[in-house]
Amino acid sequence: MISAVERKIEQFIIELDDAEVMSLYNQLPFGKRLRAKLILKIAGNSLSAIKTAGVVEMIHTASLLHDDVIDDAYTRRSKPSINAIYGDKTAIMLGDILYSKGFLELNNISLEVSKMVSNAVIQLSLGELKDVSLSKAFNIDRDIYLKMIYQKTASLMEASAGAGALLANKPPKPYMTYGCNLGIAFQMIDDILDITADSTTLGKPALHDFEEGKTTLPYIYLYEKLDKEDKAKLKSLHTKKLSTDEQNWIKSKMSEHQVIEQSYGEAKLLIEEAISLMNDRGESGLSKIAIDMIDRSF
Ligand code: IPE
Ligand code: IPE
Ligand code: MG
Ligand code: MG
Ligand code: MG
Repeated sequence: MISAVERKIEQFIIELDDAEVMSLYNQLPFGKRLRAKLILKIAGNSLSAIKTAGVVEMIHTASLLHDDVIDDAYTRRSKPSINAIYGDKTAIMLGDILYSKGFLELNNISLEVSKMVSNAVIQLSLGELKDVSLSKAFNIDRDIYLKMIYQKTASLMEASAGAGALLANKPPKPYMTYGCNLGIAFQMIDDILDITADSTTLGKPALHDFEEGKTTLPYIYLYEKLDKEDKAKLKSLHTKKLSTDEQNWIKSKMSEHQVIEQSYGEAKLLIEEAISLMNDRGESGLSKIAIDMIDRSF
């Protein structure tokens, strides 16, 4: 039924009645559609569910268009990003157009769903802003990192699951907790993959976060474990374009102190909690989404 969501998004884009936007949109490769899948799995294939899924994916795409400008990232979904091809101005405006069309369409769904999703977009934007400000210094505070990833990534998954529940007359709370855990774990794994995967598998730049100033969970744990001299060395590499030797040094220290395993273990705990919540409700499809997510390589 995900194809119904694709058709709905296409219809939303056609309604914008603008050839340039249509052409730009057609150049965007599809993503995994994880948020849409969550909504349909919870709410079924009603027209409202399909519309909500389309809106959320459009909003998510907008956030990625802006994110690639923010992160100076030139690859997205294995293709050159819009900012790489047409520049920041085009990427920003296409993002704004997709956001606005998404908000407009929320009015045709329900007030509750509309509030849930738009509030999440406020959180997402606050999270992206925080990500930028945190990257200016070497952040070693895990709680600050956790709050930021909740805001930038988990909030929209929490709202997707919550909106799905509202549409299906299910109690939103457990679904929101599921979406929240899934989202935090998802970003933790995204941050791990930035270190462990290669850019071809990822379809976006690898080992890019630290150069952009982002001290994600493995860096926070590594810093805790290093001696004074190595702490200083790690700090000195922050925001630098890393040489192969420097990249290898970081990776070998991470492997010595098992910080990837530690971070992955933390994501896994969140996923296990999400799975058990859904198993209790007989939602095996949602448990499966969570299991596949923890095993992903991109
Ligand atoms: C990418 O999200 C942004 C993060 C929250 C890490 P996805 O990995 O779900 O992006 P697509 O839509 O599948 O490309
Ligand atoms: C998540 O952060 C982006 C959004 C929530 C918009 P990242 O910057 O880590 O996402 P990727 O790695 O570029 O997909
Ligand atoms: Mg990014
Ligand atoms: Mg980012
Ligand atoms: Mg990332």
